[in-house]
Amino acid sequence: MRKHVFFGGKGGVGKTTVSSAYALRCARADLNTLIVSTDPAHSTSDVFDQQFDDDPSSVEGLDGLDAMEIDPESETERHLMETKRAMSDQVSAAMVNEIDRQIEMAHQTPGAYEAALMDRFIEVMREADEYDRVVFDTSPTGGTLRLLSLPDMLEGWIDRLAHKRERAIELYERAAIGNNEPRRVMDGDPILDRLRTRKERFEFAGDRLRNDAAFFLVVNPDELSLRETRRAVEELRSYDLSVRGMAINRLTPEPEPHEEGRGATFLRDRVATERDHLETLHESFDPPVVAEIETRVSEVKGSILETVAGELDIEVRPDPVSSSAE
Ligand SMILES: Nc1ncnc2c1ncn2[C@@H]1O[C@H](COP(=O)(O)OP(=O)(O)OP(=O)(O)O)[C@@H](O)[C@H]1O
Ligand SMILES: [Mg+2]
Repeated sequence: MRKHVFFGGKGGVGKTTVSSAYALRCARADLNTLIVSTDPAHSTSDVFDQQFDDDPSSVEGLDGLDAMEIDPESETERHLMETKRAMSDQVSAAMVNEIDRQIEMAHQTPGAYEAALMDRFIEVMREADEYDRVVFDTSPTGGTLRLLSLPDMLEGWIDRLAHKRERAIELYERAAIGNNEPRRVMDGDPILDRLRTRKERFEFAGDRLRNDAAFFLVVNPDELSLRETRRAVEELRSYDLSVRGMAINRLTPEPEPHEEGRGATFLRDRVATERDHLETLHESFDPPVVAEIETRVSEVKGSILETVAGELDIEVRPDPVSSSAE
């Protein structure tokens, strides 16, 4: 397995559950593991009955497992403040108000949330040296993936901006002849530096996601979830990211053959419907099915989580070197 493992899927299908189970499995196999959750509602804190925040802390009673929780809302806010601060350091006071307004407007656009989240993913990936495995209980989709084309876009932007700055500096120098104005140079131009840094960070993210990350989708045996999964497989593929497997969660347990009555009939019918979906998943989807997890009576935590971890047919050991460049 690659170092970074993402579990995607529609809301509520069981991403947090399956990724927690997989992280547990990795930790049990002596891999120093970090689980990263981005979900403010039900999350790893509930699964492990322990409050986590956005700094990794160790999961009590589980050696080798750390957890952190990122709240995308406050991340977007933090991102906004950070951008404002950086920009106001770099431009004249007169410009600050205008720039503040522009940045605030930009942060209300749909992409802001994804950008903030992606920035945080990049930070986590950069700072994860001490871990053998980093498990994300979400997968980049749509808007976040689109950010992977940011480096190309920024490249053109940086070139044009650099060219304009060059012209401006030339004019500035011509106007300053005779005075002892200090020479303005391109090197160290704060705005260009910032754009270049941003480009490098996103290049790093694209490289890690393509070469050091594996993607899994969690799917429920119903029409809607199948449709969403098909879309997600295509979407990831269009960014050269391939889905390694699908974990089917919330399968209905079958009643014993002698059981009768309304409940048993319902379960049998339900199982039959799910079997059709299961067949479709096995036969007409490219990624292999790596788990078939039944619906439990209660929440998946504690000993049930251990059992679910045992039901995952997802490799834990690091990929052999030769195939990591696939
Ligand atoms: N196999 C299962 N049996 C019983 N309960 C389950 C099972 N899988 C998940 N659940 C429960 O369903 C709820 C949703 O699961 P989970 O939080 O893992 O989904 P999610 O995909 O992370 O949701 P979200 O999109 O909101 O982050 C949780 O309460 C969880 O305990
Ligand atoms: Mg979740």
